[in-house]
Amino acid sequence: MATMKIPQVLLNSGHLIPTLGIGTASHPMPPPEQLTSILMDSVEAGYCHFDTAASYGTEECVGQAVAGALDRGLIKSRDEVFVTSKLSWKHTHHDLVLPALKETLRTLGPEYVDLYLIHWPLRIKDSADPYKLTGEDMLHFDINETWKAMEECCKLGLAKSIGVSNYSCAKLSKLLENATVPPAVNQVEMNVAWQQQKLRQFCKEKNIHVCSWSPLGANGAAWGSHQVMQSPILKEIAAAKNKSVAHVALRWVHEQGAIPIVKSFSKERMKENIQIFDWKPTHEEVSRIQQIPQAKGFRGERFVFQMGCTNLLKNCGTEKYEFYVPNLFDWEP
Ligand SMILES: NC(=O)c1ccc[n+]([C@@H]2O[C@H](COP(=O)([O-])OP(=O)(O)OC[C@H]3O[C@@H](n4cnc5c(N)ncnc54)[C@H](OP(=O)(O)O)[C@@H]3O)[C@@H](O)[C@H]2O)c1
Repeated sequence: MATMKIPQVLLNSGHLIPTLGIGTASHPMPPPEQLTSILMDSVEAGYCHFDTAASYGTEECVGQAVAGALDRGLIKSRDEVFVTSKLSWKHTHHDLVLPALKETLRTLGPEYVDLYLIHWPLRIKDSADPYKLTGEDMLHFDINETWKAMEECCKLGLAKSIGVSNYSCAKLSKLLENATVPPAVNQVEMNVAWQQQKLRQFCKEKNIHVCSWSPLGANGAAWGSHQVMQSPILKEIAAAKNKSVAHVALRWVHEQGAIPIVKSFSKERMKENIQIFDWKPTHEEVSRIQQIPQAKGFRGERFVFQMGCTNLLKNCGTEKYEFYVPNLFDWEP
C-alpha cells in the first residue's frame, strides 16, 4: 500500500489541521517504549496528527515519537506534525489552566501544542479517582472563566488553536456568549451509530470544526460498542466497494466534514485506516448509513449521581444512577 498523504483543512484560528488523527487512549496501555515505537510507525505510515491528553498518560510517548521521527528523518521539522492535548477535568479552573498546559509542554517536549482542548465540561477534585467518582468529587465548573484562561494560553502562543471536547450545543452557546477567541474544534463521540446531526449543524453554523472520537465505536472497548464494526449496512457497503468496514466508517466521518481520530496500535490496521481519501461512497450508500439505529456508546453514567452534584445538593454520595443531571451532561437526540 502506498503512503497516503492526509489532506488538511483550515480552522477558524487560521491554522491547518490534518483531516485524520491517530488516537492514543487505550486500556490497557502498552509499555511506554512500545507505544513510542508504535507512534513512530504511524508517522512512517503517513500519520501526522496525534491525539493525546494529560489524563491518558501518553503525552510523553507522543513527544518522544515526534523527537524520534525527527531523528530518523521521517519528518524534517516539528511543524510537519499536529499535536492535540487536553486539559484534565481536575484542572478546569481559571487559575489551573496555564500551569496545566505548561506541565503538558514539559512532558510532551515541544514548545507549543497545535490544539489544546478542555477535555470535559466538568471539574472534579484533584484527589478524585476518575474511575470511581462519587457526587462528593464534583466541583463547580465555570465555563467562561476556564475559557478565559484557555484564551490566555492561545495569546501566549503555547497553544496555536484552542477548543473543547464533549460540549453540547447548550454548553457551546454559553461559552460563545463571552468568548473573544471562539473554539476552533469540538471533539466529540461521533460515528455512524451516533451521528450527532444537531451538534454538527450547530458547529458548522458557528465555524467550529468537529473531530470525531470513537469513529469505529471504540470497537467494543469499555466506553464503546460493536454497533459500528458489526453494522450489517456497513458490512454490505464494504463488500460492494471492496473496502473494509473500518474504511466505510472512517470515510463516512470524513464525508460529513468531521475529522476522525482513530486509535490503532497495530501497524497493519494503521496502514488500513489511512486509505480513505481516494474513494467515495455513493449518495445511496450515505443515505443507507443515515438509517443506522442511533445509540451513544459512552453514556457518561459515571458523571451522574442520584441527587445531582453534592457540592450543589449536599446530600449525595451514592453511586446509583437513577436521576439524570441534564445540565451536567447534555444528550443530543
Ligand atoms: N475527547 C474525548 O473525550 C475522547 C474520548 C475517547 C477517545 N478519544 C480519542 O479518540 C481516539 C479514538 O477513539 P477510541 O479509541 O475510543 O475508538 P476507535 O478509534 O473508534 O476504536 C479503537 C479500537 O478499534 C480497533 N481498530 C482500529 N482500527 C481497526 C480496523 N481497521 N479494524 C478493526 N479494528 C480496528 C483498535 O484496535 P487495535 O489498536 O488493536 O487496532 C481499538 O480497539 C482515542 O484513542 C482518543 O485519542 C477522545
